[in-house]
Amino acid sequence: MTNSIDWPAFKAQSKSEKNALLKKNNEWFDVIYADQFDRDWLDELFIHTNQLRKMSKSESGRRALLTLASDLRAMLFFVQPSSRTFLSFQNACHLLGMQTSSIRNPALSSEAKGEQFEDSIRTFSSYVDLIIMRHPHADSAEKAAFLMNAKSSRPVPIINGGAGPDEHPTQALLDLYTISHAFEDTGGIDGKEILFVGDLKRGRTVRSLCQLLTRYDAVKITLASPEAFAMENDMLEYLRAKNMDVTITEDFKSGLQTADVVYMTRIQDEYDTAGESGDVDYSPFYLNQDTIPSLKQNAIVMHPLPRRAEIDPDFDADPRAFYWRQARNGMWVRAALIATLLDRVERLTDLQV
Ligand code: NCD
Repeated sequence: MTNSIDWPAFKAQSKSEKNALLKKNNEWFDVIYADQFDRDWLDELFIHTNQLRKMSKSESGRRALLTLASDLRAMLFFVQPSSRTFLSFQNACHLLGMQTSSIRNPALSSEAKGEQFEDSIRTFSSYVDLIIMRHPHADSAEKAAFLMNAKSSRPVPIINGGAGPDEHPTQALLDLYTISHAFEDTGGIDGKEILFVGDLKRGRTVRSLCQLLTRYDAVKITLASPEAFAMENDMLEYLRAKNMDVTITEDFKSGLQTADVVYMTRIQDEYDTAGESGDVDYSPFYLNQDTIPSLKQNAIVMHPLPRRAEIDPDFDADPRAFYWRQARNGMWVRAALIATLLDRVERLTDLQV
């Protein structure tokens, strides 16, 4: 079924209007924005993530999982650097028995021959059942989902694996899962204080996670960054409209004293327009021998990775270092997400071994 709405008219719609196009039979068909998801949907996803994770511990469980979507194929269209997101999506597909194909180098895509983005997406969709994409343009995944849902008679779901500096919704899902798992015996995400640190202006993981934290009760957010890389106003307005308790500071060390979760990020200098990152002293925002003593005993430290100098590697052995577990969680959460989108999640419950 195709729709007469054109891209500029769709783009101008509010998120809630756009969401209507991203659903089929009242279920999410695409994952484009973090803001799509409510608390019930998140709770359900994390139940399935736990099921999958538990099954993966045994050979019989892993073999059973391989049958879940072995008739389906996915394409990974990743034309912006990626290691974790690409590999965790690819391995999530493989866990479910899916075969994958990929394009990673824009120079090897027909876009390099002048092909329109629209035509590339339509071509990819004709071979597979799911497209997972990462692209340097902020509205790339949104546009692909629009094309599929409004203009194609054979739409396949689109998952946004990172769209420019704007959104990284599946990172937010794995980040939330990591927090809820870490605090499962101490009240979960509700009531926790989350300290975001670093380049909050251009870090898409922080933007997506902040939005989803509004789905939980009594969460406090502290945003610690150099002034030049403070969180953009659109996101601050979003958080205020949701009555989120938000503090903005340049004082990382005092923020550390009360935080339950410390979410570190690197400087996103690939988005510099005139070398502006070079003018900022990022070192007051490092977790190192000087700042680690301020960290609470039962806090956790997260990082979407890759890391530069923000976290002293000596801290990796500390039980509060959660970033490697966080990366591994990405695979389970993404597998649960793919099973959900492809309508295979009920079978997961049937398969329990
Ligand atoms: C992040 C990204 O690509 O936005 N990495 C990731 O997906 N794990 C963070 C970053 O690149 O700094």
